[in-house]
Amino acid sequence: MFVSKAAVVGAGTMGGEIAYAIANADIPVVLKDVEQRFVDTGLEKARSLWQGQVDAGRLSEDERDRRLALITGATDYSAFGDVDFVIEAVPERIELKQVVFSELDEATPGHAILASNTSSLSITEMGDTTLRPDKVVGFHFFYPASVMRLIEVIEGDDTSPETVRAASNFAQTIRKLPIRCAEAPGFVVNRILNSSVSELWRVQEENGVDVKEIDRIVSESKAVPMGPFFLADLLGLDTVLHVAEHLHVSYGDRFFVHKQMQELVADGDLGVKTGKGFYEHGG
Ligand SMILES: NC(=O)c1ccc[n+]([C@@H]2O[C@H](COP(=O)([O-])OP(=O)(O)OC[C@H]3O[C@@H](n4cnc5c(N)ncnc54)[C@H](O)[C@@H]3O)[C@@H](O)[C@H]2O)c1
Repeated sequence: MFVSKAAVVGAGTMGGEIAYAIANADIPVVLKDVEQRFVDTGLEKARSLWQGQVDAGRLSEDERDRRLALITGATDYSAFGDVDFVIEAVPERIELKQVVFSELDEATPGHAILASNTSSLSITEMGDTTLRPDKVVGFHFFYPASVMRLIEVIEGDDTSPETVRAASNFAQTIRKLPIRCAEAPGFVVNRILNSSVSELWRVQEENGVDVKEIDRIVSESKAVPMGPFFLADLLGLDTVLHVAEHLHVSYGDRFFVHKQMQELVADGDLGVKTGKGFYEHGG
């Protein structure tokens, strides 16, 4: 299937960067959120990524503006009547995603593929709320989506082989690397990532070591670009906690749920996106 127009639902931590990746492949994309200020944040994210390339002398200002014009902001579904591929990137709650999928089923043409950027939820349960479960698929980007090449393409119980093929082709069209995954908790990457991060969270909580000290030691080791607590702040503590809890329920004690993270989320301190998490984030 040729994707001549795409859409992204949810312009948060992931949505703006996903729209950027799609527009970079010269494909027009609608970026929808519930309020204009959230849409504007997503558009600004894409603009700042292109601006960084302008500042580095790798992109002209005209080209920055041309690519930005490929992204259309929206707060309703009126521009969804001719889209071929939609990526849902709303918060990680199944009841919210199910509402969005039933709305997308009404708003998009019958041939359109409806994909979810979920980190852990069931693709089958999202497909169940549509009349086209065969065209519902997981399409899991990694943060930051503007840079990270991998996309997990996840098959629900009803996802057709044609949909998996089309999603994998679309991933390659936007210059990403698709891998196929079964619908298992954590899919592939989060299961691996969380099994190591879990131990650092556990040590911190058992010994009361300062989270900044753990981050400093981990980043100075140069094994990874940053420590686990700063990374969690960047990703969004609500999303990280949801994945951790899901893996704990699915696989047991070897996946740890960090209590301070639970408390921060309960207080609405979700990391960079709210200005406070394990760290204070100014500006
Ligand atoms: N943050 C990460 O590192 C990361 C990585 C991979 C996948 N994911 C997944 O991507 C999805 C989104 O995560 P995020 O971190 O971008 O969340 P986020 O909270 O940063 O952004 C979600 C956005 O969705 C919007 N939204 C809420 N309801 C909506 C609706 N009905 N219609 C349109 N927009 C709506 C919110 O206003 C918000 O702007 C989640 O499923 C998450 O698991 C996140």
